[in-house]
Amino acid sequence: MRLENLRKILADPDVAIDLGTANTRLYVLDRGIVADEPTIVRTRSEQPVPGQADDFVAPLKGGVVRDVDATAYLLRQMLKRARRFGLIGSRALVCAPSGVTSGERANLLEAVRRSGVAAVKLVPEPLASAVGAGLDISLPYAQLIVDIGDGLTDVAVIRSHRLILARGMRSACGDLRSAVQRTVARRSNLFLHQREAERLVQESGAGTVMKADQCLPVLGIDRQGCEMSVELSGQEISDAVNPVIAEIVKVIREAVLGLPPDLSVEVMESGICLTGGGACLRGIDSLIASATSIDVKVAADPLHATINGASQMLAASAQGFWEPSGL
Ligand SMILES: Nc1ncnc2c1ncn2[C@@H]1O[C@H](COP(=O)(O)OP(=O)(O)OP(=O)(O)O)[C@@H](O)[C@H]1O
Ligand SMILES: [Mg+2]
Repeated sequence: MRLENLRKILADPDVAIDLGTANTRLYVLDRGIVADEPTIVRTRSEQPVPGQADDFVAPLKGGVVRDVDATAYLLRQMLKRARRFGLIGSRALVCAPSGVTSGERANLLEAVRRSGVAAVKLVPEPLASAVGAGLDISLPYAQLIVDIGDGLTDVAVIRSHRLILARGMRSACGDLRSAVQRTVARRSNLFLHQREAERLVQESGAGTVMKADQCLPVLGIDRQGCEMSVELSGQEISDAVNPVIAEIVKVIREAVLGLPPDLSVEVMESGICLTGGGACLRGIDSLIASATSIDVKVAADPLHATINGASQMLAASAQGFWEPSGL
């Protein structure tokens, strides 16, 4: 306990990190969220800097770290905002998606260590998302949480503080965007910026939100680099995004159907909770509800459920085990 107090005086504050494919969030204990930014690192200048840029690398793909150096750099820049005296570095509680390989997990740990933290604690991302969504994870009956992020869809069943089933699938919102981009490239020979593709996905929604003959103007770039506007019908956008949505819904349905009868009954009673950016997709809740015959609720702040839950877990875990970072 005395050591803990000494630490509080000498060290940078504890932090919680949600390192997502599209967005990275950093929470500093007793201060709140100090960073909520795209997970990209600029490569144009000699020294890469985090932020929005034309020439950038996305250090994560499919929910996992694929560029350890760039990820460490991004985190190091963000962690500067948590600094106090710098005598001892922060301890970091980091969310790790389920269904990743041991190598992918090792990459995540390595990137966090290289970012300069003094100690690390990994927590399963679905547990953090559930806490952030307001679920009581201590309850002794099964609850199902689905986080649809940018690169990963995480399906998990939680009971008595533990993950009793976890399934990660590399199909999520980023694939919806890519599907729309491919359709526009094939149909009109135009390149579509990510933001424009995201807008179309949001307008289209999941299921039958948009009428098939309704048309949306789309601004793309032709081979000469000039902007050009075309129209895309609701049917064309649906044809692009529906296979990806169907895949996501199928994984959730299979997870539900694969549950042993006692857990299945418990999940039917507690319902399914949706988090992550994909939970904002209009119509996705009713699509999942009709595929599983289970009530679906969307978390109040789906994009921040993971970091909000991680920050609550951080506040409760100061005394527990922290793995030294080796720095
Ligand atoms: N209103 C919305 N409708 C549809 N999609 C949305 C909406 N808002 C955000 N998104 C999508 O959500 C994704 C970002 O969600 P989120 O921040 O949960 O992902 P992430 O945590 O970075 O990724 P991951 O957890 O998969 O590594 C983006 O792909 C974005 O396009
Ligand atoms: Mg996420």
